[in-house]
Amino acid sequence: GTAALAGTALFGRPGSAPAFTRPLPPAAVPGPETIVSVELKAAERALSLPCFDGHALPMWTFADQATPPVIRLALGQRLNTHLVNGLTRPGEHVSIHWHGIRLPNDQDGVPYLVQKPVEPGESYDYSFVPPDTGTFFFHTHCNTVEQLGRGLAGILIIDGDAPEPYDADELLVLKDWRLNDDNTGFLPFLTPEGAGKSGTFGTVRSVNGMVEPDITVPASGDVRLRIVNIDPTRVSEIGVEGAEAAVVAIDGLACQPFPLRSWRMGPAMRADLVIRTPADGGTATLFDYFSAKPVPLARFMTKGPARRTTPFDPAPLASARITAPDLSAPVTPMTFSATATAQSVASAAGDDQGFLGPLCLAAGTFWAINKASWPGGGMDQIPPPLLKLERGRSYRLQLRNVTPRMHPIHIHGHSFTVLKSNKRELPPHFADTVLLLPEERVDVAFVADNPGRWMLHCHIIEHQETGMMGWVEVA
Ligand code: C2O
Ligand code: CU
Repeated sequence: GTAALAGTALFGRPGSAPAFTRPLPPAAVPGPETIVSVELKAAERALSLPCFDGHALPMWTFADQATPPVIRLALGQRLNTHLVNGLTRPGEHVSIHWHGIRLPNDQDGVPYLVQKPVEPGESYDYSFVPPDTGTFFFHTHCNTVEQLGRGLAGILIIDGDAPEPYDADELLVLKDWRLNDDNTGFLPFLTPEGAGKSGTFGTVRSVNGMVEPDITVPASGDVRLRIVNIDPTRVSEIGVEGAEAAVVAIDGLACQPFPLRSWRMGPAMRADLVIRTPADGGTATLFDYFSAKPVPLARFMTKGPARRTTPFDPAPLASARITAPDLSAPVTPMTFSATATAQSVASAAGDDQGFLGPLCLAAGTFWAINKASWPGGGMDQIPPPLLKLERGRSYRLQLRNVTPRMHPIHIHGHSFTVLKSNKRELPPHFADTVLLLPEERVDVAFVADNPGRWMLHCHIIEHQETGMMGWVEVA
């Protein structure tokens, strides 16, 4: 039953469902470096999504469409992007961060740290060859809480990871929208109450801009679902009813397929699932089990002749090309906390709901990494790096959440190998964004093989913008 899933194991255990044992095929081999050129123009456009109830809203988007543009490349192709800032609000600069892509540092899109911010009327060119196959996305890295809240994001898919094709390939982009009572405008994107707690949630949930869409898929087939959480705030715990389901990739990178019970996806996290769809005329449902009452997100309706008759054993994706870290590296703790001032406010109030107060937000900073908050609330003051890493060496970090909130922690330019948690069983996998549960400690390791200045921050954007942001230097 659906309710029984909430709060239980986050992935299948031996005995709960058959394990999948087919080994991952070797990594995909890059094809020729042909060039794909795109122009993305950040601008305010009056656009409507089905979940806006017919109203056109002042969205900020990269293209003349309300849903995020999808850029699709073959492995080996070079992406050349001409970014134009067509926003007109004075000082509303933009950039593009290619989330999860292990690219050269000067293409990473972080204003001030690696590039000049792109001011209204200016343009900027990005050029890189993504080294990994899989499901990625891109977003602005400036005034992100508002710019992403209004829609400035897109999807980037690098093909070539499915040597055995699936019967269909569906993209599902999860995002909430902060709409006023009659859906005629946006509510403020940052609130002191939200910023001090779990973030400010949207009022309308959507999948591909629709509320609970019906998606037609082949019957009795293995269908790939690329689930991308681009919401600035919400953690979803996804699961599927009415179909067998397996996780085949996390944050774009292949993992040994494991049966899906439910999987928590914080902001910026991706999961690729394969589901065995029901027979012709059947339905399966994607749920969010995070809250006690499961929320249906999308329905799959099957149509047509049966595609497969053998028992469900999904084809694994091609292996990722991440260099395995040396696990004997010493453990470096990294602590995610709130500042001392904010904590004393909380204990004085004696109320966990009042964890942080609006007073602290006025000061501009209160979330912290290793006791340091990013200064000033903007990107233009660069603090010293959190860590100086030697290029080519392996590092093992213990990410310690000492707060009662969740924090999806993202590193730029690298992918972590997630090793273990002190709170739950985790399958071995790579990730560029690691969800820390309240008071959880998660060990990750990686080879610092990409030189440059790389952000490391919480991807609940209000936490990022109120201090839980830093950077590491690889040299
Ligand atoms: Cu998707 Cu620095 O973030
Ligand atoms: Cu956070």
